[in-house]
Amino acid sequence: MKIFLDTANLREIEEAASWGILSGVTTNPSLLAREQGVDFEETILEITRLVDGPISAETISEDADGMVREGKTYAAWHPNVIVKVPSTIEGLKAVSRLKQDDIRTNVTLCFNANQALLAARAGAFVVSPFVGRLDDISEPGVELIHDIVQLYTMDPEIDTQVLAASIRHPRHIIEVAQAGADIATVPFNVLQLSMKHPLTDAGIERFLADWRKREAEQVTSVGAQ
Ligand code: G3P
Repeated sequence: MKIFLDTANLREIEEAASWGILSGVTTNPSLLAREQGVDFEETILEITRLVDGPISAETISEDADGMVREGKTYAAWHPNVIVKVPSTIEGLKAVSRLKQDDIRTNVTLCFNANQALLAARAGAFVVSPFVGRLDDISEPGVELIHDIVQLYTMDPEIDTQVLAASIRHPRHIIEVAQAGADIATVPFNVLQLSMKHPLTDAGIERFLADWRKREAEQVTSVGAQ
């Protein structure tokens, strides 16, 4: 399973890219709104310079014509830009129209398997089920990933990838991978938490303490000679 970063923050993207684990980035209007005073196009272009992989940029129109118009503009910015549209009927129309121009789409705000199935039939490049937001309303988010992966696997004509979004904690990353997701898009703090373990920290501390002790003993034994 590939790891994308779910952010519009350039410092976070630069840092995570330096770990050598990033295959793409997803943004959305809420994430961009957090970055005060930045230009949308310039931010997306800067991300394409930091990460060589799919970069999702979301449309804000509610009708297919507007989504297609915005999508064509975004896609012209850089070949790695993926146009994000919502899981609505207008979104489906936009996906199929953008596909005719070879523009790749990410069907977002997906909360059930029917939406995912129709997004795939319309020609979506990826579909984004929101795991955490389902968990928030006591519906099993990871189960939806399972269901969509199963549906897509059963239909040899479908090549849409499953991008697990709304990842809230490190356990989600493992669970969506086990459920067969192709990609998980993960917030930066969750990626940092994934690499944290108290036994790793304690182990490093002990190794360093033992090494310093050995060095101190060598200095003492040389001094005694
Ligand atoms: O990119 C969309 C998605 O990952 C949002 O996550 O935490 O706002 O539900 P969240």
